[in-house]
This record gives sequence, C-alpha cells and structure tokens, in this order.
Amino acid sequence: MENFLYDIPTKVYFGEGQIAHLPEAIKEYGSRVLLCYGSGSIKKIGLYDEIIRLCKDHQIELFELCDIEPNPRVTSVNEGVRLCREHKIDVVLAVGGGSTIDCAKVIASSVDYEGDAWDIVLDKKKIKNVLPIIAVLTLSATGSEMDHGAVISNLETHDKIGVGHPDMAPRYAFEDPTYTYSVSPYQTAAGTADIMSHIMECYFQSTPGTYLVDRFAEALLKTCIHYGPIAWKEPENYEARANLMWASSWAINGLLKYGKSQSWTVHPMEHELSAYYDITHGVGLAILTPNWMSYILKEETLDKFVEYGINVWNIDKNLPKKEIAEKSILATREFFNSLGIASTLKEVGIGEEKLALMAEKAAASLSNAYVPLNKDDVLTIFQNSLV
Ligand code: NZQ
Ligand code: ZN
Repeated sequence: MENFLYDIPTKVYFGEGQIAHLPEAIKEYGSRVLLCYGSGSIKKIGLYDEIIRLCKDHQIELFELCDIEPNPRVTSVNEGVRLCREHKIDVVLAVGGGSTIDCAKVIASSVDYEGDAWDIVLDKKKIKNVLPIIAVLTLSATGSEMDHGAVISNLETHDKIGVGHPDMAPRYAFEDPTYTYSVSPYQTAAGTADIMSHIMECYFQSTPGTYLVDRFAEALLKTCIHYGPIAWKEPENYEARANLMWASSWAINGLLKYGKSQSWTVHPMEHELSAYYDITHGVGLAILTPNWMSYILKEETLDKFVEYGINVWNIDKNLPKKEIAEKSILATREFFNSLGIASTLKEVGIGEEKLALMAEKAAASLSNAYVPLNKDDVLTIFQNSLV
C-alpha cells in the first residue's frame, strides 16, 4: 500500500425528503444561485417545483441554465459562466445526473478565468477559484456527486476530456433514492455498469498490500450485482435504488484508490467512443470491459482474475486458475447482457472507420495502466468489441 492523504470533503444528506435541508446548505455560501439541469426529467418528477418552492420560501434567488446535454458540451459550460458573471452567482446548484453535475463543476471553475472554459478542461492549472457547488443527484452512475472530477465534450474537436481539482468536489450532495425511480431501465443498466467500471478500474491494479481496499471494492461490486437487476426490474424498489446510489458515490470518491497509483484503462478508451459517436458512457464501458479483460488475461494477471472470480462471482475455488479467470470474464459479460446492454460496438452504431484514430488518442494515457497498452493493443480491443 502506498502513502496517501485521506480527503473526502463532500457532506451528504442521504435519504428520502432530505431536500428540506437544501436552503440551509445554500445559505452557508450565499443566496444567488445558478440552477443547472438537463432536458427536463427533474420537472417530470416534481423536483424542479420543490426546489423553486424551497428557495422562494428562504429568499434564495434562482437563475437557470437548462438543457445541459448528456456528454455535456463546453458550449453549455460557457453559457453557464456567462450567467454566473451576469448575475453575480454565489453558488452553483446542479440537479441531475453526472452530465449536469460535471457541467456545473466546470462552470464553477471557469467563472474567474477570462478565456474559454475549454482552456480549463485542458489545463487545470488555469483554475484560480471555484464557486461552491451543491449537487442534487437523480441518477446513480458517475459518482460526480462526491468526487472532484468532471468530463466535458467538445464537438468541434471530437474531444471528451476529464479535468479534476480538489475544489471541484461538491460541498453538499443530496442523495434521495426516490428521485431515481423514474430512471429508465436503459439508464439504470448503464449507470450500474459505470459504477462497476469505476470499482474495477481501482480493483485491477498491481500495487501489493491493498487487502482492505480490495475487500471494499468487492463489497461494492457485489452490491451492484445484487441490486442492479432489482432496480432494473422494479424501478420503485427503495432498497435497491438506495444501495445503488450509495455505491455510486463510494465507487469513485477516492476510497478505492487510496494506496494505489495506477491510471485507469477502460475509461480513456470509452471516452473516445463517446467523443466520436456520442454513445451512453456506461454502455460503452460494458461493451469494452469483458474484451479488455480477455485481452489482458495472462500469467501476470491470472491471480487477480482468480481473486475477482472467487470473491465477486462466487466461482468454485477448486477449479483450475485459468478456468476461474475465464469464467469470471464470462460472468461479467453475461451480467451486462442480462441488463439488456448491447454487447458489440456495431449495435451502438460504431464501425471500423475511426477505430485506429480513437485507439491512438486513447493510448496516449495508458502507459501507467494496470497492463500498459499501446495503440495497437487498444485497436485490437476495439476490433474484438466490434461484432
Ligand atoms: O437531461 P436530463 O433531463 O437530466 O435526463 C437525463 C439524461 O437524458 C436522464 N435522467 C437523469 N436523471 C433522471 C433521468 N431520467 C429520468 N429520471 C431521472 N431521475 O438520464 C440521461 C443521462 O443523464 P446523464 O447525466 O448524461 O448520465 P450520467 O449520470 O451517466 O452521466 C454521464 C456523464 O458523466 C461522465 C460521462 O462521461 C458522461 O459524460 N462521467 C463523469 C464522471 C465524474 N464526474 O467523475 C466519471 C464517469 O466515469 C463519467 O466519465
Ligand atoms: Zn465512468
């Protein structure tokens, strides 16, 4: 285990009805708020009206940025920055899934920077000051409600890039599982796959002596495997929605990477797919993950897959190691398929054309991965995922 600084600063109000505490959370930082949201799901579930009412009752002034896209665009960030400056905003309030929260994070980080917000995405050193961010989560997936990262897309350059800064962590997160009752089976499946991928990105690393965090990771994976299908079938199952929501936050808030330092693998590959084809992040991850696993399974990684197979998928520990590893990869693939997720890139509209270009861009950040990959390795994984 390597040295680390434990620092998870977000305060979380978890559970049904906790939104009642929103005004007091906002008032810690001011009373002029930029309310950020997507295409309107928060209106359908009554959350928008609830927030308007609460803020009105507590003399909090709201200004709005709506229509934030899934895979949020830098153009939305720039519009948010303009609104913050025009209305002298004190707090950025994100109500939605990861896209809305990410957009709000980069808005809050760019208000004091004079140039285009894309510069901030490319170079976090340009961040001078970050307005306080409060997140109200409506989709369990990215963990953006409790981490300090954001991912922004630029349609002009076909780039989808992550940026992180300690001050970008929301000061407060409101996690009410009932807000996720309306999430479609498709997004529930994609969200579950995303949570699992965040866990696996940390679990599949080679730093020795990380027994404790690896057991945390397995518990979180088992939570997704148990509750993902329940939430998928029974959207209003509170227990399932609550456990997935809490898992989404803990998968990426830092806990699982303490003591480890390798970089992630499947996420950089998936971000290229979303950048060029605008596909759903969790779906891209679910397609790539089993193919990545099969590609990196070799003598040096065998024991990790055996650990994964036995502890996460309950595979018989008396079987030969190679068989346990292969069964664990098959179980991963079958789990995603059981949630109705596509299993090939072709099914989500991705062809051969741009694979080499995307592989080259993804490989640029894979030299410190669990198994380092070059552009030819990534291209092979993409090709193996195609049909
Ligand atoms: O537009 P709205 O109305 O918000 O509808 C959204 C959107 O259509 C809908 N939705 C959200 N809550 C709902 C709901 N529909 C019904 N009922 C609800 N309660 O779901 C659709 C997808 O929303 P989105 O926010 O895009 O999904 P998600 O939370 O999966 O976020 C994906 C984005 O986050 C990035 C991804 O790359 C992608 O851009 N990520 C952010 C990370 C981070 N900040 O740490 C890490 C992740 O690995 C990921 O890269
Ligand atoms: Zn993710």
